[in-house]
Amino acid sequence: MRPQDDKLFPAGFAWGAATAAYQIEGAAREDGKGESVWDMLCRKPGAIFQGQNGDVACDHYHRWAEDVALMQKIGLKAYRLSISWPRVLPEGTGRGNAKGLEFYDRLIDGLLAAGVSPWVTLFHWDYPYELFCRGGWLNRDSIDWFAEYISLVVERLSDRVSNWMTFNEPQMFLALGHVAGVHAPGMKYSDAEMLRVCHHAFCAHGKGVQAMRAAARQPLRIGFAPAAFVKIPQNGNPDSVGLAREAMFAVTNRGHFNNAWYMDPVLLGRYPEDGLEQFHDVPLPIQAGDMELMHQPLDWLGANIYGGVTVFPRAGNAGDYPEKVELPGHPMTMMGWHTVPESLYWGPRFLAERYKLPVVITENGMSGHDWLSADGAVHDPYRIEFTRQYLAALKRAVEDGVDVRGYFHWSLMDNFEWAEGYKQRFGFIHVDYATQKRTLKDSAYWYANVIKSNGVDL
Ligand code: FCB
Repeated sequence: MRPQDDKLFPAGFAWGAATAAYQIEGAAREDGKGESVWDMLCRKPGAIFQGQNGDVACDHYHRWAEDVALMQKIGLKAYRLSISWPRVLPEGTGRGNAKGLEFYDRLIDGLLAAGVSPWVTLFHWDYPYELFCRGGWLNRDSIDWFAEYISLVVERLSDRVSNWMTFNEPQMFLALGHVAGVHAPGMKYSDAEMLRVCHHAFCAHGKGVQAMRAAARQPLRIGFAPAAFVKIPQNGNPDSVGLAREAMFAVTNRGHFNNAWYMDPVLLGRYPEDGLEQFHDVPLPIQAGDMELMHQPLDWLGANIYGGVTVFPRAGNAGDYPEKVELPGHPMTMMGWHTVPESLYWGPRFLAERYKLPVVITENGMSGHDWLSADGAVHDPYRIEFTRQYLAALKRAVEDGVDVRGYFHWSLMDNFEWAEGYKQRFGFIHVDYATQKRTLKDSAYWYANVIKSNGVDL
């Protein structure tokens, strides 16, 4: 390591990769697991690309030891996984499933033995079907259901796991699942119902954090992992930066792809004023004490960042923020998402400024046309270049004083990409779904080197 290079990423930086239970585990009806809303949605004709589902996925439930060995080969310092709620509580509440809990015991022990630190997401979208039948997030009891589930898991695993997250991307499971209807449970709710499910989810986060601290067997470091929609200034002038910062936390319409509606209640204890104005005619089911409940002290803020848009000065009226439409031919991933490396500079910076917490990049990555070459390797130079450019931007944020504690690439391995099925490959590890053979892509070897050099060799 060169002399001053250790300043670039802090010591103990969590160099990681991420997955989620439903996307990799498979064993959907094994060892007493209950049904989740994703099992349900996958049976709905037309909901998922080619009618695919997570029944087998990467068969990680059975192949976890091989997968941990691959993580060790890459040299991961940290691995972000999620717990399947219906696997450990088949009806969502009440009776625990010993075999489900034992699976996570084995996995956590295996990770620790391999020197990989587990970071656990409690909810990455596979909501218990039985609870959906009782009204799901519409039901105010969902706040208690979530806390009960969390107590069970944290009591069991917190002797070995210290980094926890409540939700992954509340914007997505709430809006794609309850308004757009394209993710589970596939609902198209009205604004009133939507605000109700949001409100209950935010309270559940708070009650969940309380339950975690109460059940903890060692001091925990708790965060959550919202999607961050990043706004980028047109240039470095203070006016430009100010405008982008303002746009990043503005709620300018009733769509749900914003930051503040999902972060302010949890991190500042209030709904954003402009959001309340947008929904001025929609009742919010706030009860006494709710805003305090949501707003529990957190130790860090996660952010899933894939891209961003440039904001430029408005010509006409206030109220919206004109965004730059990318030029034809701008690089795009297989998902159709534009590559915008600077989002990994401005995103963490604006988030840290507003919420005053250390930031962890809980997801970032790209889907590509990845296949096995005749030489037996998977050559993905675009993923290397994508990650290099994004990490260089993150490094600049660190140099400018932003407190960034970790980076989790999405994803460790190719997996079930929700409604897109298996056609989107995001992994450092290629999975042949017919044989379940794993192959490290070129990018995995490259990332191994990045980790080894603590981000010096990008
Ligand atoms: C995020 C999800 C993750 C994966 C990536 C591509 O929105 O959190 O599960 O689907 O996108």
